[in-house]
Amino acid sequence: MSSKPVYVLNGPNLNMLGQREREVYGSTTLVDVEKHCRDHAAERGMAIEFRQTNSEGELISWIHEARDKACGIAINAGAYTHTSVALHDALKAAELPAVEVHLSNIHKREEFRHKSLIAPAVNGVICGFGVHSYLLAITALSSLVTSNKKV
Ligand code: DQA
Repeated sequence: MSSKPVYVLNGPNLNMLGQREREVYGSTTLVDVEKHCRDHAAERGMAIEFRQTNSEGELISWIHEARDKACGIAINAGAYTHTSVALHDALKAAELPAVEVHLSNIHKREEFRHKSLIAPAVNGVICGFGVHSYLLAITALSSLVTSNKKV
């Protein structure tokens, strides 16, 4: 397994998990999500770098940083998923295995959430399983990293 960590990147409003729209996102906090991800990755011999920002520019800079420092990316870009061509371009530029993650099933929700602008720039998309979406993404990345499958 790579000596580099998987970057688990979280976008806007995900710092509010556990408080925001609990009927949609449940009561798990982002601190809980981080702990589950860390344990799950460790069981697979992987380390993670877990971050959250409300800024699109910061997310883009972290993806650029990941190009050299990470072995793969799991990204929950929050609402930027549906709006950001810049995130799409950054993920392409990273040339790393990458998985798009959502807690909720975006296809079961409002129509404006059905379209992801970043989906064509990642290996795959996992949505609808709450915190397990992140764990499934880490499992997927562990095999993508082993087989060195880029986007
Ligand atoms: C989300 C889904 C997005 O549509 C929404 O804007 C979020 C969270 C999810 O994890 O289900 O902020 O990415």
